[in-house]
Amino acid sequence: MLTLIAIVSGAGGAGRSTVTAHLAAQLAHTSHPVAVLELDAQNSIGALLGLRQTCEIGVLSPGVAPDAWRRVLCETPSGVPLLPAGRADAASVAAIGQWLRQDVGGLRRQLDALGMPEDTRVIIDTQRLPDVVAQAAVAAADLVIGVVPATTTGYVTQPNMMAACAGRAQMVPNLAAASSPLNNDLLHLIQTRGGDAVVPLRIHRDEAIGTVAASGQTLVQAGHGSQAALDFVHLAAWLLRATTVDDAATRTGRAGE
Ligand SMILES: Nc1ncnc2c1ncn2[C@@H]1O[C@H](COP(=O)(O)OP(=O)(O)O)[C@@H](O)[C@H]1O
Ligand SMILES: [Mg+2]
Repeated sequence: MLTLIAIVSGAGGAGRSTVTAHLAAQLAHTSHPVAVLELDAQNSIGALLGLRQTCEIGVLSPGVAPDAWRRVLCETPSGVPLLPAGRADAASVAAIGQWLRQDVGGLRRQLDALGMPEDTRVIIDTQRLPDVVAQAAVAAADLVIGVVPATTTGYVTQPNMMAACAGRAQMVPNLAAASSPLNNDLLHLIQTRGGDAVVPLRIHRDEAIGTVAASGQTLVQAGHGSQAALDFVHLAAWLLRATTVDDAATRTGRAGE
């Protein structure tokens, strides 16, 4: 069975696409089957995965039925297969939202129909919560990663994000900056409020992320040895462990049925 991982946030610019691209690139780099599904009308993840041109047609584009997703699946220079959002309008996004609300299993069914290897991790980039499509991704996902920037906005929007995910988000603080006392205080507050749901990892602020993104890369391909690059290595390892434990638990559960 495919493993679906939704990357969500309650704050805009929290780092959802950055985390999606880095986790996917890291898994591809270590030869784990991975794909990215972009459910964000920003249609920008292709650039982070190395595509030079904007994807015109994708899963959110008008007239692209879910059973036609195979046609929009593309390879990227990062080695990560991508289902891009494509150019979308409010009506086409609303139509996807309505489909997903009515057909809770639909997202997984369409992904299954693509015939990817069974152990593929499908990482889903979403629009900021609360958003109907993002909430459908949360409902379909095996693992929900809530990106919480260690900023005032991140702290203020954290409760809404937790509520919108019905408590299912495993939270990952982003933009950590050890040299900033305010940042440290906010991190502490975010961790205290989130308790066990905050992953014992953080992604540090690293200006190189923006620099390498401008050339269509992640820190993984750029071969950066920075703290943030290491953070993504650890986060990818955590993700594999978290989703593999789930598989084992599912198998155990099934064995006892
Ligand atoms: N850890 C980080 N360090 C430095 N810049 C970051 C980090 N995470 C994200 N950014 C930058 O913040 C901006 C917003 O990130 P993005 O991933 O596009 O957010 P979202 O997808 O949540 O809107 C981008 O310019 C990105 O390069
Ligand atoms: Mg984004």
